[in-house]
Amino acid sequence: MRYLTATPKVATLLLASSQVVASATNFTSLVNLFIGTASGANGGSGGNAFPGAAVPHAMVKVGIDVDTAPRQAGYISDNSSITGISLMHDEGTGGNTNGGYGIFPLFPLINCDFTSCPVGIDARKTKRAAKTDAATPGYFTTTFVNGIKLEATSTRRAGLIRFTYPQAATSRHVVVDLTHDLGRSFEGGTVALDRSSGQVQLTGTFLQSYGTDNYTVHACYDFNSPISQNQQSIVSTGTFQSSKTSAATITITPANTSSLSFPFSSSATATQAGALLSFNSSTVLVRFGVSFLSSAQACANAEEEVPDWDWEKVMGDSVAKWEDVLSRVSVDVTKEDPTVVELLYSSLYRAHLVPANLTNENPYWDSPYPFFDAFFCSWDTFRTVHPLLSITSPREWSQIVNAYIDGWRHQGFIPECRANTKAGYVQGGSDGMPILGDFVQKYASHAQELNVPTDDLYQALVDTATKTPPDWYRVGRQNTAWLEFGYIPTAWADPSGATGLPTREASRTLEYALGDFHVRQAALTLNKSTEDVDTFGNRSMGFVKVWDPNVTSDGFTGFSQRRFANGTFAFSPPDACSPIDPTPHSCARGTDNNVGFYESSSWEYSFFAPHSMATLIKLMGGNATFISRLDHYFSKGYFLAGNEPSFAIPWAYHYANRPDLSVLRVRNVIFKNFNTGIGGASLPFLIIPGNDDSGAMAALLAFHMLGLYPTPFSWQLLVGSPLVSSYTITNNLLGTKTTVTVEGFDKSTLVATPPSGSKVFVKSITVNGVANPSVCWLAFDDLIGGGEIVIEVDGDASAAAQRGCGGSDPTSLNTGGNRTGTQSLPDSL
Ligand SMILES: *[C@@H]1O[C@H](CO)[C@@H](O)[C@H](O)[C@H]1NC(C)=O
Ligand SMILES: *[C@@H]1O[C@H](CO)[C@@H](O)[C@H](O)[C@H]1NC(C)=O
Ligand SMILES: *[C@@H]1O[C@H](CO)[C@@H](O)[C@H](O)[C@H]1NC(C)=O
Ligand SMILES: *[C@@H]1O[C@H](CO)[C@@H](O)[C@H](O)[C@H]1NC(C)=O
Ligand SMILES: *[C@@H]1O[C@H](CO)[C@@H](O)[C@H](O)[C@H]1NC(C)=O
Ligand SMILES: *[C@@H]1O[C@H](CO)[C@@H](O)[C@H](O)[C@H]1NC(C)=O
Ligand SMILES: *[C@@H]1O[C@H](CO)[C@@H](O)[C@H](O)[C@H]1NC(C)=O
Ligand SMILES: *[C@@H]1O[C@H](CO)[C@@H](O)[C@H](O)[C@H]1NC(C)=O
Ligand SMILES: *[C@@H]1O[C@H](CO)[C@@H](O)[C@H](O)[C@H]1NC(C)=O
Ligand SMILES: *[C@@H]1O[C@H](CO)[C@@H](O)[C@H](O)[C@H]1NC(C)=O
Ligand SMILES: *[C@@H]1O[C@H](CO)[C@@H](O)[C@H](O)[C@H]1NC(C)=O
Ligand SMILES: *[C@@H]1O[C@H](CO)[C@@H](O)[C@H](O)[C@H]1NC(C)=O
Repeated sequence: MRYLTATPKVATLLLASSQVVASATNFTSLVNLFIGTASGANGGSGGNAFPGAAVPHAMVKVGIDVDTAPRQAGYISDNSSITGISLMHDEGTGGNTNGGYGIFPLFPLINCDFTSCPVGIDARKTKRAAKTDAATPGYFTTTFVNGIKLEATSTRRAGLIRFTYPQAATSRHVVVDLTHDLGRSFEGGTVALDRSSGQVQLTGTFLQSYGTDNYTVHACYDFNSPISQNQQSIVSTGTFQSSKTSAATITITPANTSSLSFPFSSSATATQAGALLSFNSSTVLVRFGVSFLSSAQACANAEEEVPDWDWEKVMGDSVAKWEDVLSRVSVDVTKEDPTVVELLYSSLYRAHLVPANLTNENPYWDSPYPFFDAFFCSWDTFRTVHPLLSITSPREWSQIVNAYIDGWRHQGFIPECRANTKAGYVQGGSDGMPILGDFVQKYASHAQELNVPTDDLYQALVDTATKTPPDWYRVGRQNTAWLEFGYIPTAWADPSGATGLPTREASRTLEYALGDFHVRQAALTLNKSTEDVDTFGNRSMGFVKVWDPNVTSDGFTGFSQRRFANGTFAFSPPDACSPIDPTPHSCARGTDNNVGFYESSSWEYSFFAPHSMATLIKLMGGNATFISRLDHYFSKGYFLAGNEPSFAIPWAYHYANRPDLSVLRVRNVIFKNFNTGIGGASLPFLIIPGNDDSGAMAALLAFHMLGLYPTPFSWQLLVGSPLVSSYTITNNLLGTKTTVTVEGFDKSTLVATPPSGSKVFVKSITVNGVANPSVCWLAFDDLIGGGEIVIEVDGDASAAAQRGCGGSDPTSLNTGGNRTGTQSLPDSL
């Protein structure tokens, strides 16, 4: 069990310290759930990670909620007051600082008269006793200063909560809160209490945390525990309601059967309402179920998933599920560096919390396909979360891919940022496209077995790449502009009447280009027409159209810029919206963003054409300039480790034949930005929150540590120098085990700046004894193909610089792309 410790363990200092993980045998015991839970005060971000109880990809994420914002995931590791333990949460998101979900909290009380117990949210809130928060995968506990202990464990849609009251308590109660989600956004609902069955059913409508829509959710609490040792019996029941947010006292009306109903109101109400139950026993075991269909279904879910109220079974099953997921990347924990191991397994854990599996809980349409929520947002997750699933977990990944396709099937477009079951805001392109394109490239030959209809997948891509939804701020893209100009013009009034936020023109252009590349890749893989391949291939070079060769910054020439419909460029300072922007700019989605880039600068986005980096190198003036431009980008401070557009850039040296420089840069990024403290990523200079972003940061760190970077559109992964001496990847579709061993592994390289001569450079790679054509990349099929991959490392820096990729560069569309054989696209399109 991992208890919350206040002192961050800084990775660079840990090599000398002794840690407990070395003796652990199970990967679940290595997970530190509190990484990334620091308070996000002072404009920074603690990661917004969720440390409560959940199974992999769970719908239910049960944990405690603090009363101070920011609190995106409910929990914050500081000593804020606690308002309850609630049933659903997001993981590592930005958006509304009050947080999403946090629905139907319970709150245990002692020593009050039934009719005057402090049931209101301000009256009841309390602090936790020091050093009592603890969590392991599948379990969370804390203890209030008054001695009441809270524990939780869960299944996909249900679970158990246990309150243990101090022996000296004179009375013991549980508040069931109908109205307070984290966003305080209650718009109506009902609570129904039935003493004889011991059941409380709830239905509430709340606002989503990222977007403007609302959603309705249901829960069921069972208080008649049949566990005989528990000897738990309900003594009194009643309900309460008040129209005031901060009512000092709210009177409880005793009743054995009672139902309160609050009609829908389109603005959030201040209503406080719920039920109160009193017990005779010092332990109260509560079973719960959640549903998006009905409160009866919520009760049925509890009955189905927790039939015996068996705590050990529920928790054991959850641990086993996590053990299965975590063991798909296995290392010998007795051999590897303990901090690296803790970071690796904590990251793998967080990378599998979302998307959330709402299969059989889709309130909007009937479908035989899976339904998933918390695509929050695909812009965050397409780069690392999905590629990680592609390596180990095609069975789960194919279900999520099917949910994306089903979104298109029923709503016309691939979903982008589904949050609380409804469409949220679109940030850039439609980044479900890279996810579907990547899937078909990697698993087309297994699609039937995985029940993914590839014709539908392809049509979803084509429709999203060509049709324009009425409001492309919710889903899809502004294809009216894209198809007419081949870029997104600035200051252009869309004559079609389609609406959306007309900002982020330059970065949307770059992302639309990548999206179309995926249609091309899918067309190639699925043997679609040459015309499709060429049409989408040509469009994917659109990033060149926003390249202004005349802009100079810090001595470097040529930058991505906004462009008017008449072809003239609109200038934005290339450092605008960078971490060192000298002038305040608005850099989000709003109409006050007059820079043209989303949450990042032209300096950074000018490196964004992941499918044709060779083109960018040409545009920038060749390999040497590209390399010094990258060096300058890092030394000047344009890089922001916690932000998605920065993710791939430490690896970009690979494309200029200098993988040795990537290796050093990645070490530097890891050891300067990540540690096992509650802050997760310690980034004091953040201008944009470095949240865990639905596991995106976690998956990124896992890749960095395994010495791999996924290019989610290519059959290759970039290869670097792993931080462990060996790891074994299990693919849960093929049943293969591939062991990657680092020959000459050198622990002294596990620092921000490896000492001169330490063995950090990749010298050669063999795949099952056969020399790999490159030291820059590995074929995806080899990584999941089973057998032995050996990465030989050495410490000779000048030999490494000389060697480069060793003969074969990572692919770029401009130099051949994938599966084309002969076609190479001109960079002047
Ligand atoms: C929080 O503060 C209270 C006093 O207000 C103290 O008793 C308690 O130990 C603190 N808890 C933690 C987790 O620091
Ligand atoms: C919220 O819910 C109500 C009732 O279900 C519905 O009429 C309304 O359209 C929903 N959306 C918004 C944005 O209020
Ligand atoms: C509820 O039921 C209990 C037990 O049957 C009874 O003693 C109590 O008076 C009832 N209370 C109310 C408010 O009806
Ligand atoms: C609670 O009440 C039930 C029913 O009267 C009884 O069986 C049980 O022993 C009581 N438990 C305690 C701890 O008093
Ligand atoms: C490790 O996991 C296995 C299977 O899930 C379980 O049987 C065993 O008790 C666990 N060991 C430890 C040390 O937790
Ligand atoms: C999602 O839930 C369904 C229904 O229980 C189950 O069959 C499926 O395996 C789950 N998938 C994941 C990824 O959790
Ligand atoms: C596409 O064509 C190639 C070559 O004819 C064939 O090997 C492959 O199976 C085809 N793929 C699909 C998905 O039909
Ligand atoms: C793609 O671009 C090339 C080069 O400009 C051009 O020759 C070809 O006709 C284009 N193909 C399609 C389908 O647009
Ligand atoms: C760049 O500047 C040159 C020289 O002033 C000019 O001829 C050219 O049109 C400019 N290019 C663009 C794309 O603005
Ligand atoms: C293009 O349009 C912009 C914005 O209306 C204008 O400032 C610029 O002068 C135009 N350029 C040309 C060459 O007409
Ligand atoms: C840049 O490096 C790449 C990758 O090794 C190589 O293919 C290319 O020829 C180099 N370009 C120049 C202009 O040297
Ligand atoms: C395309 O991908 C296949 C593996 O799927 C690889 O064998 C082939 O060499 C690639 N072609 C190019 C031109 O990169």
